[in-house]
Amino acid sequence: MNTKNITIILAPLQGFTDLTFRNVWARHFSGIDEAIAPFISTMGQERLKPIRIKDVVPADNQQLFVIPQILGNVSKDFIFLAGHLYEMGHKRINWNLGCPHSKIAKKHRGSGLLPYPEKIDDLLGQIIPNISASLSVKIRLGRRSKDEIFNLVAMFDRHPLEEIILHPRTGIQMYEGTSDHDAFEKAMQNSRHVFTYNGDIVDIASFERVRNRFPTISRFMIGRGILANPFLAEQIKGEPKNGEPKLDRLREFHDQLFVEYDKIFSGPAHLTGRMKGFWTYLGPSFKGHKKPLKQILKSTSIPAYTDRVAAFFDLNLEFSPGS
Ligand SMILES: Cc1cc2nc3c(=O)[nH]c(=O)nc-3n(C[C@H](O)[C@H](O)[C@H](O)COP(=O)(O)O)c2cc1C
Repeated sequence: MNTKNITIILAPLQGFTDLTFRNVWARHFSGIDEAIAPFISTMGQERLKPIRIKDVVPADNQQLFVIPQILGNVSKDFIFLAGHLYEMGHKRINWNLGCPHSKIAKKHRGSGLLPYPEKIDDLLGQIIPNISASLSVKIRLGRRSKDEIFNLVAMFDRHPLEEIILHPRTGIQMYEGTSDHDAFEKAMQNSRHVFTYNGDIVDIASFERVRNRFPTISRFMIGRGILANPFLAEQIKGEPKNGEPKLDRLREFHDQLFVEYDKIFSGPAHLTGRMKGFWTYLGPSFKGHKKPLKQILKSTSIPAYTDRVAAFFDLNLEFSPGS
């Protein structure tokens, strides 16, 4: 399959695909063309959260091109944050209209705005003329019903968006069930905008299913599939970064990630917590992972964690993601 003209975008995964992850990943693997950073929430009264801004400082993000994402529903706060990001050098900004978590959705943020296309329409009408960056949106099919998408795409047609990234599930579905390709197709057919596909690309077969179903799509966003298989983007593109055995490359990647997070996190619980998060996705990609992975996930001290990770890699289990 010719994958020369495709763009692979790393999905924003809050708590995972931060600056550290993106840089370490890019040192070890290839195939991802750009990344959307985990969301930065707007704050009132022209305030910024420095730690979230730090994640998207362009000088620190030279390994992997990054697009900041904003979560919010107040136009003046959005414009303020987007203006700051533009001053930092960001010419492209993404609006999070897909976050499914009820705490966020209840406040009409993320997917909580999707049942109110007239509200989104108003916000876009205020925001777009007042920001210098181009704006894309990341959405789901709706909050409660996948039929919400039809009013949404009609409304988006009235605005000059850079693209629509659609994860074809509803908000209340969270990550249950499968991505709805029929609904994705209908949404795309009813829109004048460029669409990016996002959802459940976990191996070459699932990528090819999407690619064959939507031959006009050239942009694919992948999230959890990269955590489970950091080689996935280079496998899709057929461009391995180097020929070393997989396990060694994974081990080096893990060890460097650990070293970099160790510089940032203060206590052992933070560090092991973050690393164990990665193992919940990566671990199941190994055949016979159950017992040794459980050991890693049970570790509460740094020595226990590092010993158990070393033991895990020493087992030389077959790396077989998606099976
Ligand atoms: C742990 C986690 C954190 C996420 N954080 C964000 C986020 O900050 N912004 C966003 O737009 N989507 C977020 N998402 C959704 C993903 O970007 C993506 O849309 C979703 O995981 C489906 O793609 P995938 O099947 O390739 O993982 C998150 C998903 C997960 C599982």
